[in-house]
Amino acid sequence: MTPSMTVDVHVTAEARRAALEADVRTGLSRHPKSLPPTWFYDDRGSELFDEITRLPEYYLTRAERSILDAHAADIAAASGADTLVELGSGTSEKTRLLLDAMSASGRLRTFVPFDVSEETLRRAAEDITGAYGIEVRAVVGDFHRHLSELPVDGHKMVAFLGSTIGNLAPGERRRFLDDLGATMTPEDHLLLGTDLVKDGGRLLAAYDDSAGVTAEFNRNVLSVLNHELGAHFQPEDFDHVALWDEEARWIEMRLRSRLPQIVEIEDLAMQVGFEAGEDLRTEISAKFTPEQVARELRGGGFTVDASWMDPARDFLLSLARPDP
Ligand code: SAH
Ligand code: TRP
Repeated sequence: MTPSMTVDVHVTAEARRAALEADVRTGLSRHPKSLPPTWFYDDRGSELFDEITRLPEYYLTRAERSILDAHAADIAAASGADTLVELGSGTSEKTRLLLDAMSASGRLRTFVPFDVSEETLRRAAEDITGAYGIEVRAVVGDFHRHLSELPVDGHKMVAFLGSTIGNLAPGERRRFLDDLGATMTPEDHLLLGTDLVKDGGRLLAAYDDSAGVTAEFNRNVLSVLNHELGAHFQPEDFDHVALWDEEARWIEMRLRSRLPQIVEIEDLAMQVGFEAGEDLRTEISAKFTPEQVARELRGGGFTVDASWMDPARDFLLSLARPDP
């Protein structure tokens, strides 16, 4: 197979803009105010996330990488796949361990990274095309809307790493699994990374680090609205807040207005009022038990074949198959 790279863009600038406008209009007129997490990841946001993955408090990336270090060969063998699809691929850094293992077994043909963040995706796709000499078919898409655009050929393993599934609400997770299953054959596999329930103090520190990188990442969503919609947010007028909701078992990220203010969003001809101490909800990050992961996968039409944890049992990788 000759190395090649293509980029399919399913989120045009116009569609992206329309979705942003709709999300901002509904999210900021609602009580409590909220914004969906997809809008964190402009170029700066992807860069800040990359920094988060290297923070001492952010154990998730290291834990998931250690599982891949120890078990990528087992995962590649158990999946038997020749095509690796990665959803929310970002820089695809950890993914190289899977590509290495698939390549070592002589089966690797195609890599399909899929992400909304076009710049980061293109850079990663170029690096991997150069490093592995394989066919790379990058897809710029939204995994809530464009899963049906994934290539259908090949024996696939679909990796969804970084506990990004935890950033979806429970109903969205179910719909995501249903949509994903519809693009897979019973021989394909899903490799799902999920963060596990643990001590609340450690969880909170991972989302409120001492260097303030997560705070900057959270506030960056306001800069996105400033750049793209002519909004007049002063990001420093909002405090980064991370809460651990023990009952719902998720971390909740919010931006809390430090003062009473009215923020103009020029392109939407909208004025948004905030009271002092009022929260804008920006993100949840659900934490799971292994039983819950298996149950949610079953509910979405998948059966777990095998799973792996790091020695500290912080993180779980599950390999699942769509039910026939
Ligand atoms: N997989 C990487 C990155 C995780 S960060 C890791 O494990 O470290 C989450 C990634 O998902 C970002 O790259 C972001 O751009 C992407 N993303 C967020 N919402 C998305 C959506 N709705 N559709 C597609 N990609 C999305
Ligand atoms: N999937 C990552 C997680 O839930 C995303 C993330 C990490 C994140 N830190 C964040 C999202 C801070 C918003 C704010 O851990």
